Amino acid sequence: MIIKRLETVPKSTPHLAASGAQAPATAEAAASALPAPVFHDPKHHIKIFQGDCLDILAAIPESCVDLIFADPPYFLSTNGITCHAGRMVSVNKGQWDVSRGADANHEFNRAWLAACQRVLKPNGTIWVSGTSHVIHSVGFAMQQLGFKLLNDISWVKPNPPPNLSCRYFTHATETIIWAARDKKSRHKFNYKHMKEIAGGKQMKSVWTILPPDKSEKRHGKHPTQKPVALLERILQAASDEGDLVLDPFLGGGTTIVSALRLRRHAYGCDLDIDSIHLSLRRLCSDLVHAELSVSSLQISVDLFSGSMDRSLRTPIRPMDSSHSGKLVRRDRSFYFIGTHRREVIYSVSAENMEEALQKFQSSPHSAIEILFVIKTETEIYLHQGK
Ligand SMILES: C[S@@+](CC[C@H](N)C(=O)[O-])C[C@H]1O[C@@H](n2cnc3c(N)ncnc32)[C@H](O)[C@@H]1O
Repeated sequence: MIIKRLETVPKSTPHLAASGAQAPATAEAAASALPAPVFHDPKHHIKIFQGDCLDILAAIPESCVDLIFADPPYFLSTNGITCHAGRMVSVNKGQWDVSRGADANHEFNRAWLAACQRVLKPNGTIWVSGTSHVIHSVGFAMQQLGFKLLNDISWVKPNPPPNLSCRYFTHATETIIWAARDKKSRHKFNYKHMKEIAGGKQMKSVWTILPPDKSEKRHGKHPTQKPVALLERILQAASDEGDLVLDPFLGGGTTIVSALRLRRHAYGCDLDIDSIHLSLRRLCSDLVHAELSVSSLQISVDLFSGSMDRSLRTPIRPMDSSHSGKLVRRDRSFYFIGTHRREVIYSVSAENMEEALQKFQSSPHSAIEILFVIKTETEIYLHQGK
């Protein structure tokens, strides 16, 4: 895993000056023009780039991506107000979300969609999410560029914030347009799997999925973070293990985290340094979980493996509290994860965090090397089957 020193790039959006993505002449020229990723994990085939997606996409060889998920600027940061957790808050998301006027916004949507179309494989598909502020322009640009529109999914949020003005319905949905690269595409659709998830019925284009909960925001918040369950659904619907997934507007890294969990390869990029940092924190935490599960004698400590889709109908079985076995080992371990090398740099068995920290302090390591600490508890029972 390689993490390059992150540099702050201006948060302006130079893409608005560009009329479209320029494709390099050959795939080799394109690949060599790709800037060094700020994060590269060759084992899981994951790369994160910092920069304008138009520059990054232009440097990726053509026809190599299986699935793109894009959550572009909504252009809704208009100094309005909304309600969050019972409080009146600004709707502004950041400088990247400020509208430049309908024509310039549409020109930008056309430019990045054309750049995505170039890197998609002939049968690849793109999923674009957005609110009414942007999604109509996205749909129109897709028609202008010759994409084949497959579905528009309504993502229903069960608990939308109340509408403070009482002059509109509450905004309870976002639209996700699913489209194939062009009219000739024979797109991938994992129909049977979707039917299974839908309880044996054909899955509808209306998906009720909760917004990200606290556990998904424990590494920090992105103002427009999508739930992992939504991205998992999308990746499972139209890609397979080993496929290459790309997110040009990575934000807090939801697509990359979902791709890692579902064993897809992934590229992501974002202009904003804080968003990249958040993506890295989320990704590294998952990578550590994955490494620990492998290295701890097949005792899984990966709390987040398996699907995050809380909309599944199958009830979750409660943990079995009546162990029919003799406890043969109990262990409480603390893993100290490095700031620069995002891996376990010190581990120790201890009763509690205080004791673990004392032991750490008498080790050759210094506290500034540590990004976070993971505590795991293991109990092994000798099975006494009947
Ligand atoms: C709507 S958010 C994406 C949220 C993401 N789906 C998640 O789950 O966290 C859009 C992101 O695009 C980034 N962005 C805006 N314009 C960009 C551009 N031209 N190139 C790359 N990233 C850009 C913003 O910094 C922001 O983090």
